[in-house]
Amino acid sequence: MHSPSRATTYNYRVVRQFTVATVAWGILGMLVGVFIAAQLVWPALNLELPWATFGRLRPLHTNLVIFAFGGCALFGTSLYVVQRTCQARLISDALAEFVFWGWQAVLVAAVISLPLGYTTSKEYAELEWPIAVALAIVWVAYAWLFFGTIRARTVRHIYVANWFYGAFILVMLILHVVNHLALPVSLFKSYPVYAGATDAMVQWWYGHNAVGFFLTTGFLGMMYYFVPKQAERPVYSYRLSILHFWALITLYIWAGPHHLHYTALPDWAQSLGMVMSVILLVPSWGGMINGMMTLAGAWDKLRTDPILRFLVVALAFYGMSTFEGPMMSIKTVNALTHYTDWTIGHVHSGALGWVAMITIGATYHMAPRVFGRSAMHSLTAIHAHFWLATVGTVLYITGMWVNGLVQGLMWRALEDDGTLTYSFVQAVEASHEGYGVRLLGGACFASGMLVMAWNLWHTVQRGSPEQALKAAAIPGGPR
Ligand code: HEM
Ligand code: HEM
Repeated sequence: MHSPSRATTYNYRVVRQFTVATVAWGILGMLVGVFIAAQLVWPALNLELPWATFGRLRPLHTNLVIFAFGGCALFGTSLYVVQRTCQARLISDALAEFVFWGWQAVLVAAVISLPLGYTTSKEYAELEWPIAVALAIVWVAYAWLFFGTIRARTVRHIYVANWFYGAFILVMLILHVVNHLALPVSLFKSYPVYAGATDAMVQWWYGHNAVGFFLTTGFLGMMYYFVPKQAERPVYSYRLSILHFWALITLYIWAGPHHLHYTALPDWAQSLGMVMSVILLVPSWGGMINGMMTLAGAWDKLRTDPILRFLVVALAFYGMSTFEGPMMSIKTVNALTHYTDWTIGHVHSGALGWVAMITIGATYHMAPRVFGRSAMHSLTAIHAHFWLATVGTVLYITGMWVNGLVQGLMWRALEDDGTLTYSFVQAVEASHEGYGVRLLGGACFASGMLVMAWNLWHTVQRGSPEQALKAAAIPGGPR
C-alpha cells in the first residue's frame, strides 16, 4: 500500500504551526491579562518601570489576546476548514509559510514596540505605521491563499463557514486600511488623516467592527464547521445560516456610534447606532439558536464530551453577550454602564466565554487530526480545563458586573444641594474586592490554558510524521 504524497494531501503543516502558536500566544496574552488584573489590586506591581506600567501593558494584553491568540486561531482553523470543505490543498505552500511567519513577525514587533511606548493611541489599532503596513501585506497574502483555495475547490458548493471566514478576511482588510490612514512624521510616529469627531467616528467604526468581524464573524465561521463536526450532526438549518450571514454583516457595520454616546458625535448618528445595535440582537440570536439546535437529538453527548461542552457553553456566552450588548447600547442604559467595569465584564463575557471557549473547543477537535492522532492525550485534562475556564469566566464577569453597578451608581449619586455624594476615589476603594474576584477568575482561566498546553504537548509527542501525512489524505485521491 503506498502512503499518500504531497499532491494528494491537505497542507496541515501550516495548520499545525498556527495551532501551536494559538496556545502559546493564548498563554502569554492571558498571563499579561492576569498581571494587569493584579496591578489593579496591588498598584505597586507597576514596579516604577515605564514599560511595566498598566498603561503600556494593557494594549499589549489586548493585542496579544485578540491578534495573536484569536488571530492565530482564525488563521489556523480557516485554513483547515477551507481545505476540507473545498476538498482541495491550499494553492501555495510557500504563501502559507509566508502568512505564518509574516504574522508571527508582526506579533513580535507588537510585543517589543508596545511596552516601549510606541503607539498610535487608537484602541485595537495601536501598532505604528511600519508594523501596520506589514500587517496589511500579510493580510493580503492570507486573503489570496484563502480565496485562491476556494477558487481551486473540487466541490461545487461553498460551505457556509467559508462565507463567514471570507467576510471576516475582506472586511478586516478594509477596516484596517481605512482606520490606519495616517501621515508618518518619523519611523515610529504618525498622525491620523482624520481630525476631531470624524477621527473618533472612523476609529469606532473600526473598533466596533473589529468586534463584529474579527471577534464575531470569524468565530462564527469556526462555529459553523466545528459544532456540527463534534456533534456529528448536520447544521440545524442551512437556510437560517444564510439568513444569519446576510443580516449580521448588513447590520454590524452601522452600530459603531454606540461607543460614542453623549460625545461630540451628532445626536442622529448616536441614535442610528443605538437602533442598529438593538436590531442586531435578532441575527445574533438566530446564529446562536442555529448552533444550539444542531445538537437537537444529541444533547446526551454533553454528558461525556467535554469538547462539545466547550463549544456549547461558548454559544451560551455568545447569546448572553449579544443580549447584553444591545441593552448597553440604549442611551439611557449606557449612561449608567459607560466608563465603568460593566463594559469590561461585557467584553470578557464575549472574549473568554465566546471567543476563547469556541477556540479551545475547535482546537481540541482539530489538533489530534492535524497531528495524526485519533484523540487528545487526556480526556480528563479536557474536563478539568472546561471547569477552570467556566468557573474563571463566571468569576471574572460577576466581579465586573458588581463593580460596574457600584461605580455607575456612586458616580451619579447626588446630595440635595446638587453636589456629588461620593468622590472618585471612594468608588475606586469600593471596587477593590471586585478586582480581587476578577484576578482569581482570570488566574483560573489562564491555568486552564496551561493544562491545555500540557495535553497538546503529549498529543504531539505520540504522533508520527507518517501518521500525520495519512491523516491529511484528500478523499478521492489526486485531482
Ligand atoms: C449584538 C452584539 C453586541 C452589541 C450591540 C454590543 C454593544 C456594546 C456596547 C454598547 C458597548 C459599550 C460601549 C461603551 O459604553 O463604551 C460594547 C463594548 C464592547 N464590546 Fe460589545 N456588543 C455586542 C457583542 C459583543 C461581543 C460578542 C463581543 C466580543 C467578543 C463584544 C466586545 C466588546 C468590546 C471589546 C467592547 C469594548 C470596547 C472598548 O470600549 O474598548 N461585544 N459593546
Ligand atoms: C486570563 C484571562 C484574562 C484576564 C485576566 C484579562 C484581564 C484584563 C484586564 C485587567 C483588562 C483591563 C481592564 C481595565 O482597563 O479596567 C483587560 C482588558 C481587555 N481584555 Fe482581557 N483578560 C483576559 C483575557 C482576555 C481575552 C481572551 C480577550 C480576547 C479574546 C481579552 C480582551 C480584552 C479586551 C478587548 C480588553 C479591553 C476592554 C475595553 O477597553 O473595554 N481579554 N483584560
